[in-house]
Amino acid sequence: MAKAKYRFVCQSCGYVTSKWMGKCPECGAWDSLVEEAEVTTKSRSYLPIEGAEKIKPKTIASVAQVKLERLITGIREFDRVLGGGLVPGSLVLLGGTPGIGKSTMLLDAGLRYGAKGLKVLYVSGEESEEQTALRAARLGTKTDNLLIMTATDLDAILLEAQVVQPKLLIIDSIQTMYNAELQTAAGSVGQVRECTAKLLQFAKTTGIAVLLIGHVTKDGTIAGPRLLEHMVDVVLQFEGDRSYSFRVLRALKNRFGSTNESGIFSMEAGGLQEIANPAGLFLEEREQAVSGSVITACMEGNRPILTEIQGLVARTPFGMPRRTAVGFDYNRVNMLIAILERHFGIDFGTSDAYVNVVGGMKIAEPAADLAVAAALVSSARNLPIPKNMLVIGEVGLTGEVRRVSAVERRIQDALNLGFTSFVIPNSRLQLELPAGIKILRVKTVAQAFQAIFPKRG
Ligand code: TYD
Ligand code: MG
Repeated sequence: MAKAKYRFVCQSCGYVTSKWMGKCPECGAWDSLVEEAEVTTKSRSYLPIEGAEKIKPKTIASVAQVKLERLITGIREFDRVLGGGLVPGSLVLLGGTPGIGKSTMLLDAGLRYGAKGLKVLYVSGEESEEQTALRAARLGTKTDNLLIMTATDLDAILLEAQVVQPKLLIIDSIQTMYNAELQTAAGSVGQVRECTAKLLQFAKTTGIAVLLIGHVTKDGTIAGPRLLEHMVDVVLQFEGDRSYSFRVLRALKNRFGSTNESGIFSMEAGGLQEIANPAGLFLEEREQAVSGSVITACMEGNRPILTEIQGLVARTPFGMPRRTAVGFDYNRVNMLIAILERHFGIDFGTSDAYVNVVGGMKIAEPAADLAVAAALVSSARNLPIPKNMLVIGEVGLTGEVRRVSAVERRIQDALNLGFTSFVIPNSRLQLELPAGIKILRVKTVAQAFQAIFPKRG
């Protein structure tokens, strides 16, 4: 095979050069030159060529449907997020911030595949073989089908993989791999892209599934996973807060399954434990009703999780009032505060307002709006919200409560956990309710507050 030639291309103006430079001489952008394989285009005629290989389009019906074989770990949360198991020959990227548990997740998965009789090659460019073995011992699954290796030269790794012939190759991480043909350092944009392209070709030609780990910084901007998303078949994201044990595995892209699924885990001393029934995960520490605390139900993938939202409104000691949101969108908190000021005459002008989602959970759904507003009012007026009440609803700028998806599922899970009264947007429910359950349908925030704080409204 002829060696590819490489050149540097400016990502902002397209300037091409054979040498790397810190600053583009054409447009003046800093650090914008990225190494790329040179493309040799031969001009060709589109008239029929004699003896040329014929590629013919087909009708859809004539293409035989093959049932995808799937490799199963037995970690149900993991298999489900992949769409029911790993597809042979697929390239999967697992992204996440450093220290969140990516290596633990994939080593555990590798060990389980091994225990099921599949040969696995785990290549670490970050940790020594001893470190990896130590971690494997902590995870507890014993198997001789998982081989570990510390290496960073991608060509050497792929040669070895061809000898070993595993069903599955795990690369930890793409940022430590390098392609010796390139001049730039491992982890640079060009390296990350070229190495992924090589792995993609390797996976497709050998049928070996490749799992890649990629580090993402908090804003997701570094040379890494974001830029690879279009190349790989599946993009998984591992999320969580390192100060808590709660972790979520999400599919951001999946060519072989849905992106609605998410897997929920807890990081324990013996590795990641699956949480098959997450609904009540965050409710354990709650004792009695206190002001400034309310429970809502948020969807994580297809499953509701009941979450405590806390609000604190306190007098500003001096200067500008502060607003802080942990686990919830800061701008939405400001919007909700403006709505409370405008429609309910609550003065936040001299008060600090804090919103906190308990347990390290991050809420991206507007369905929690009404609960956030209720938590703030509860704190400002010192009115506790009943412990067995669930509050759901999106809030609009005119103070209306809007419908949210999957209300029935949210209510059902809360019923199972002993909740008895529900403040929800005005919508019809297809749900059989046991006796003694109160459902309060509300159209506006004013109606909601009357239902939540009946004494004073
Ligand atoms: P790791 O998988 O190394 O993170 P990443 O590869 O995403 O950088 O996991 C790091 C953290 O997980 C580390 O701080 C220790 C913790 N951990 C446990 O709590 N239990 C375990 O069994 C293992 C292996 C790790
Ligand atoms: Mg790691």
